[in-house]
Amino acid sequence: MLINSEVIIYNKIVPNRVLFQPMEGCDGEKNGAVGELTRRRYLRFAESGAGIIWFEATAVTPEGRANPRQLYINDETVESYKSLVSEIKATSKSQCGSEPLVIVQLTHSGRFSKPKGTPEPIVAYRNELWERGKENQPYTVVTDEYLSTIREAYSKAARLAEYAGFDGIDVKCCHGYLFNELLSAYDREGAYGGSFENRTKLFFDCIDAVKNSVEDIFVTTRLNACDCFPYPYGYGVTKENEIDLSECKKIIEILKCKGVELVNITLGNPYLIPHINRPCINSPEDGNVGMKRILDVTKELKNAVPDMKFVMSGLSFEGVNAVDYAEKMLLDGVTDFVGFGRMTFAYPSFYRDFKANGNLDKSKVCLKCSKCTELMRAGTVAGCPVRDSEVYMPLYKEYVMKR
Ligand SMILES: Cc1cc2nc3c(=O)[nH]c(=O)nc-3n(C[C@H](O)[C@H](O)[C@H](O)COP(=O)(O)O)c2cc1C
Ligand code: SF4
Repeated sequence: MLINSEVIIYNKIVPNRVLFQPMEGCDGEKNGAVGELTRRRYLRFAESGAGIIWFEATAVTPEGRANPRQLYINDETVESYKSLVSEIKATSKSQCGSEPLVIVQLTHSGRFSKPKGTPEPIVAYRNELWERGKENQPYTVVTDEYLSTIREAYSKAARLAEYAGFDGIDVKCCHGYLFNELLSAYDREGAYGGSFENRTKLFFDCIDAVKNSVEDIFVTTRLNACDCFPYPYGYGVTKENEIDLSECKKIIEILKCKGVELVNITLGNPYLIPHINRPCINSPEDGNVGMKRILDVTKELKNAVPDMKFVMSGLSFEGVNAVDYAEKMLLDGVTDFVGFGRMTFAYPSFYRDFKANGNLDKSKVCLKCSKCTELMRAGTVAGCPVRDSEVYMPLYKEYVMKR
């Protein structure tokens, strides 16, 4: 099967096309170090044999953390990352005979910053659609001066990530967080708003800053293809609210010129329209419609920039058929890597089982029920209360059911 075949990116051999998507567990220590549950999750992931483990959202500044337990890489916490990356690689090597590439997702949460557990939004511009009903939150429209300091925060985090042993750095630009929000800052004044060049400036500056700060670690990005949010509050949409990938294609072409070889495609915003990037049951649209949107978008981008390597998202929706579906996406040339998010929480050994048995265990697959997202939104740690119930069901009962 194509899914099991090796592929080379950035001169590194990836043992197969299976990629574990970044999945935040909100279970770090107060200072941003890896916590006990964080370590547990990644060591379970490491037993899967996946080719790439894309480490979750990890903050580069304290004020840009999405929750008080979001991972935050800094001088005080870096050793915890170093130990974990080395444990991930050693575990995978001993259990599966291969080491995954481990990529860290570096982030600034912007509008969704909650470093002390309550909203402290740092926004690119005021957005009346987002802010309806939340007008009393302390919105801070970031100054150009503040934005220009973020470059250095990325450089520093990149140097620490290299020291920690990560193979790659994702300059995150998706899901409504700061860099993604800037892409729709059409009406912002100054150096970071208005034209395409200005709206993408901080993102590209940070790509360059990261590249220039490290020696032997590659740069990639998780990129929103489109926000699926009405103009002028979303990028990648026409004034008539149709998906328009022209700016995304332009971004990918520029990334290619900067030496980026891999782009992880996602879309939408998990806070207001979570079903767009994680099709689920009990959602306002049929999950198959959501899957088709993800497929069409990824395919159009792959066709437009065929020599870029892409990751397709959303595959957990396919449940017990997820690996067969992923194989079809690879064979059809829609994508180069197949990304699994919720499935990794529910059934971390799914790929290993598939290789051994030719199918997935129906009693272990993700049910697309969104309880993991509910846990996260309730302000506690995230995991799968259904399939990993011993650890997460008591928390679900306490934080979600009693609310
Ligand atoms: C609990 C939870 C945490 C997530 N954390 C992140 C994250 O840290 N970074 C990110 O880019 N996406 C994050 N996502 C989105 C997933 O990576 C993925 O795109 C989404 O779940 C759809 O893929 P799936 O159908 O395979 O789950 C998260 C999703 C969930 C449900
Ligand atoms: S809580 Fe539901 S959606 Fe989340 S991983 Fe578990 S089964 Fe999947």
